[in-house]
Amino acid sequence: MNKIGLFYSFHTGKTAKVAEKVIEAFEGTEIEAVNVEEINEEVFLKYDNIVVGVPTWFDGELPNYWDEFVPALKDLDLSKKKIAIFGLGDQKGYPENFNDGIGILADLFESLHATIVGFTSIEGYTYESSRAQRGNQFCGLAIDQENQARLTSKRIKDWAEQLKKEF
Ligand SMILES: Cc1cc2nc3c(=O)[nH]c(=O)nc-3n(C[C@H](O)[C@H](O)[C@H](O)COP(=O)(O)O)c2cc1C
Repeated sequence: MNKIGLFYSFHTGKTAKVAEKVIEAFEGTEIEAVNVEEINEEVFLKYDNIVVGVPTWFDGELPNYWDEFVPALKDLDLSKKKIAIFGLGDQKGYPENFNDGIGILADLFESLHATIVGFTSIEGYTYESSRAQRGNQFCGLAIDQENQARLTSKRIKDWAEQLKKEF
């Protein structure tokens, strides 16, 4: 498998911890961490297999430090890229926007012709609505450290195994 680029903000609390677990789960596969706050086209285009980690903030928005990321990708052709997204959210605190960030990024990447991989079941979560939901799946991996932290390690391990096949 080609080297994986793992994009997330190095200045986050929980997302950075989850990203470390993702790296562990991919043991045996080359995976490089990249700070989304230092994103540019060249860095993003370096990888064909990409994992992106994003928390949802502000009632269904991306955090401010993603402001540079979206314009940086605006005119790129991502048609050869496979992208998997994990998100952090709080299904009890924000049930109407649970992990919307996953869906926001999936829509962006798909508009640039990337293939989104790593869909997971919505079973086991309780919320009202989510931009990440497509049918009975999330278009990525939804992590909830506020309410379901004890499920996180297994969710990540299973997801990494799935991605080793999908990448
Ligand atoms: C101000 C604020 C707004 C939030 N909005 C949402 C939201 O709309 N949807 C959601 O699922 N989680 C929301 N959350 C929960 C965070 O996504 C969650 O706490 C996450 O673990 C934070 O990760 P971080 O420490 O990497 O930023 C919000 C948290 C805060 C503090």
